[in-house]
Amino acid sequence: MSGSFTVDALSIFAPAKLNLYLAVTGRRADGFHDLVSVVSQTDFGDTLRIEPAAGFSLTCDDPAVPADESNLVLKAARAFAAATGWRGGAKFALTKRIPAGAGLGGGSSDAVAALRGLNQLAGEPLGAGELERLAAQLGSDCPLFLQAGPVVLRGRGERIAALPVAAARRLTGRRVLVFKPDFGIATPWAYARLAAAAPASYRPAAEAETRLAAWIAEVQAPAEKLLFNNMEPPAFAKFLALPALLAELRVTFGLQPRMSGSGSACFALLGADTDAVPIVAAVRAAWGGSAFVTEARLT
Ligand code: C5P
Repeated sequence: MSGSFTVDALSIFAPAKLNLYLAVTGRRADGFHDLVSVVSQTDFGDTLRIEPAAGFSLTCDDPAVPADESNLVLKAARAFAAATGWRGGAKFALTKRIPAGAGLGGGSSDAVAALRGLNQLAGEPLGAGELERLAAQLGSDCPLFLQAGPVVLRGRGERIAALPVAAARRLTGRRVLVFKPDFGIATPWAYARLAAAAPASYRPAAEAETRLAAWIAEVQAPAEKLLFNNMEPPAFAKFLALPALLAELRVTFGLQPRMSGSGSACFALLGADTDAVPIVAAVRAAWGGSAFVTEARLT
């Protein structure tokens, strides 16, 4: 039994996200882009262990991940302490499974795991709204990780709405193969390429909303019919390995693969009985043994 002032360590799951639908609609005065996106979290992700300690520190099992103050986990911790006046500290240990530069939201998810864990350790000083505000300050992709189930993102990603239950049911539980080449794509670069091809690269907001509303309203429409990402063309123009493999997966396996967010990770929804083995083999044949491949489920 722990003493009355001892709080045990927490272990928090930090899921990866996938943008099933991503329509970037235009550039804003603040330099960010407005978007309409449907995002699911997955049962695949990182684990953040949080142990009460004096001060904040971070270790990570992946030496390629910077564990210094530039890591969003420590930025989240500093932001939490500043917002709450909490005088405690924590030792964070990150088990990294989500690759970086992937468009899978790994760093953002870790940061939100830190916020949730610290809020728990500190006796829940922050309500849901305050947590959302703090998360939005840390990154455009952070607030979605405070939600459960698939969501619709608007604004720069901080305006969140739940997907109607019947539509969410067409996503949750679906099998998905996630794969990433051994290079990443930096989000600011991807948005800059999109802006360089403006206005043709943007999807008008009204069209983006109409297409999403039509999918939601079509009760029999499978998840496959929702898939869209207008960040693909500028990324595919530079990174030819992406469209080459995606075309092969379409032709050979009848899949409808997409890039997630700003890439470079891609994904393909699988049928309940689909044999993933030959698909994984095709990914490895095209992208080599150092490619990242995992099967997961949408949550
Ligand atoms: O918010 P976050 O730190 O994830 O954004 C990283 C960069 O991606 C921003 O500096 C911006 O260049 C670009 N971005 C954008 N519009 C968004 C999200 C990100 O232009 N909605």
